[in-house]
Amino acid sequence: MSTQGNTEVKPCLITGGCGFVGRNMTLRQLSMGKEVWVIDDLSTGSDPSEWLPEGYQQQAGQHPSITVFQGPQKLIFLKGDLLRLMAGGLDSDGIQLPKFGDVFHFAAVVGGRATIEGNPMAVAIDLAMDSCMFNWAVRDGNVERMLYPSSSAAYPISMQESEGHVALKESDIEFGGALGQPDMTYGWSKLTGEYLARVAAEHYGLHVACVRPFSGYGEDQDESYPIPAIAARAARKESPITVWGSGLQGRDFVHIQDCIDFMLLVLDKISDGSAANIGSGQLTNFRQVAALFVELAGYETEVKPLVDKPVGVHSRYGDPTFSREVLGWEPKISIREGFARVLAEARKRHGIADEVGA
Ligand SMILES: NC(=O)c1ccc[n+]([C@@H]2O[C@H](COP(=O)([O-])OP(=O)(O)OC[C@H]3O[C@@H](n4cnc5c(N)ncnc54)[C@H](O)[C@@H]3O)[C@@H](O)[C@H]2O)c1
Repeated sequence: MSTQGNTEVKPCLITGGCGFVGRNMTLRQLSMGKEVWVIDDLSTGSDPSEWLPEGYQQQAGQHPSITVFQGPQKLIFLKGDLLRLMAGGLDSDGIQLPKFGDVFHFAAVVGGRATIEGNPMAVAIDLAMDSCMFNWAVRDGNVERMLYPSSSAAYPISMQESEGHVALKESDIEFGGALGQPDMTYGWSKLTGEYLARVAAEHYGLHVACVRPFSGYGEDQDESYPIPAIAARAARKESPITVWGSGLQGRDFVHIQDCIDFMLLVLDKISDGSAANIGSGQLTNFRQVAALFVELAGYETEVKPLVDKPVGVHSRYGDPTFSREVLGWEPKISIREGFARVLAEARKRHGIADEVGA
């Protein structure tokens, strides 16, 4: 536990802290001078030794499942299944967690469109993981403040069809009123998670905020997600360049650093379990995404649709009014700048030299 001035600062906990969003939040918290605990089973995430900056030394922890990374700050990594740990495994394993300040609960089975549509029952485990996590969070002062990442997938899919789609606003999900049909088991688990957040706030006084990110992307995202996958195709100058489905389906893309900024803001501003969109309000279809990557990669080609691939809803984009006008946030990183960063990283990943002017 660290101290700042005379005030004791509790460590923060990041579940799923070795995944895409979790890693970026972990690095941000360390850069803010916080001691960070991470719980992750590495089912899709990668070990902190692979992504921590230089200067962190690895040491054994209080338990065989715990590794301490000591550097400018301290990262305590507990490798294990969050579901089992929060459902009694902490006690049976003799693991003691400290009391936490901020808790960011990013552990989940996600896996992109192929998993969401291809293995919906695997994703449904998130229902169990979230309920165990909230049960633990409301007990014994374990947590001061909690951020729950819901998703734009919680919105009714009827509002995202090719005809009549709309910019989705927070009030389109109305607990106690209209909820609609969310997107597969993934959307249902997020909707239920939001409901649990409200129960935790109302019945147990937990300070909790939810966010509904639209399509978060970034340099270190896995290539099972569309932006790094299309970037890799453009880095290799594939011709034609392929996109899943007709390519006319569109999303609202937000760079991960903007997402992290917003999550920190929301945790300060929302405490009653309600949710805020993380979106720009800009709808970009996958043909436009591929065309921009091709332009950034400095070549010309056609975009080829792969119609047998899963595509999800037609048009999903957020209404940014609440985040802009009430919370005072808007994304700082444009799609052009963010995609250029992802392309540069794709070139590095695939050992392709940067081209001058490209
Ligand atoms: N990336 C986005 O744009 C986006 C959009 C909406 C919502 N979200 C939400 O944000 C959260 C994080 O998403 P992500 O993109 O970083 O996903 P990710 O798959 O990269 O990260 C999830 C992490 O959770 C870990 N994990 C999975 N099951 C676990 C278990 N049983 N015990 C311990 N660890 C486990 C994985 O190993 C991985 O490190 C998820 O809840 C996701 O639904 C993300």
